Amino acid sequence: MKTIWITGSKGQLGTELQLQQEKLQDVRFLFTDIEELDLTNKQAVIDFAQKEKPALIINCAAYTAVDKAEEEFDTAMSINRDVPAHLAEAAKIVLARLIHISTDYVFDGTSCKPYVETDKTNPQSAYGKTKLSGEEVVLTNHENMVIRTSWLYSAHGNNFLKTMLRLGKERDELGVIFDQVGTPTSAADLAAALLEISKQILEGKENAGGIYHFSNEGVCSWYDFARVIMNFDKLNCFIKPITTDEYPLPAKRPFYSVFNKKKIKDSFGITIPHWSQGLAKTYIQLVTSPTNQNSV
Ligand SMILES: NC(=O)c1ccc[n+]([C@@H]2O[C@H](COP(=O)([O-])OP(=O)(O)OC[C@H]3O[C@@H](n4cnc5c(N)ncnc54)[C@H](OP(=O)(O)O)[C@@H]3O)[C@@H](O)[C@H]2O)c1
Repeated sequence: MKTIWITGSKGQLGTELQLQQEKLQDVRFLFTDIEELDLTNKQAVIDFAQKEKPALIINCAAYTAVDKAEEEFDTAMSINRDVPAHLAEAAKIVLARLIHISTDYVFDGTSCKPYVETDKTNPQSAYGKTKLSGEEVVLTNHENMVIRTSWLYSAHGNNFLKTMLRLGKERDELGVIFDQVGTPTSAADLAAALLEISKQILEGKENAGGIYHFSNEGVCSWYDFARVIMNFDKLNCFIKPITTDEYPLPAKRPFYSVFNKKKIKDSFGITIPHWSQGLAKTYIQLVTSPTNQNSV
């Protein structure tokens, strides 16, 4: 029986992969987060891989505090560049394939058409720079994959969906940025795609290495996203469109981060739901989960 090792298992994406693991039969899953294994410890990563001999590693572990990374650049680098480097080395030793998750923040957001995988990167934030460095170390082995995603949210952890639902209950009016556009991505939909890709890799799919873009379908601004969230919860909070300048944050975000997803759809024969469908499913998951109700 083949083994898939999933890191960052308590994060948004890692949790979704755990919830959906039964979609793959005859596979042994190993889930680790920092309590089980601190991935910044290179020797520990190699020892773990040699002991467990995974056929595939999916790295969902990351430093994702985008604004804090401006001040904690070295810490962000050690998690977003050195950790994937350790995993790539371990994968090479045990002949495992590696799928590493990256971000739209590797682009500067000045494009006006959906980004393809070969477009020039130009990260504008410390977080984006550390994630690009992570991509580079992973891609030194041409069999490894980097899957970039954008605006990730789920029923678990902290994210825009949960923040909007909380603030929508607390306030009568909320300013939300309308001049940054992209695509919200449900961690559940990304996890489903990752499991399908994993299945094909374990079945022997060749030449799958390289960069891929994955988000849900469609495009919106943070303002549009917030309005749909408020409607789901029938909240009367007025969402006021504001500009990026009116809501200054330490890290610069891309104004345009829409992905062209043709490569991943054609390579693996997957269909991707529209972001509004992903949101509807996640909203139901959130309000029906007893563990989540108090945190909304
Ligand atoms: N969130 C987004 O909006 C977004 C957008 C685009 C791309 N992405 C990318 O998508 C991937 C998944 O994101 P996510 O939102 O699921 O991330 P997340 O919720 O922040 O989860 C990351 C997990 O990695 C763990 N981790 C951090 N340092 C570690 C270490 N040294 N050893 C072991 N585990 C460690 C974290 O633990 P702690 O919580 O204890 O630190 C956390 O459980 C990441 O690569 C991220 O860069 C995210």
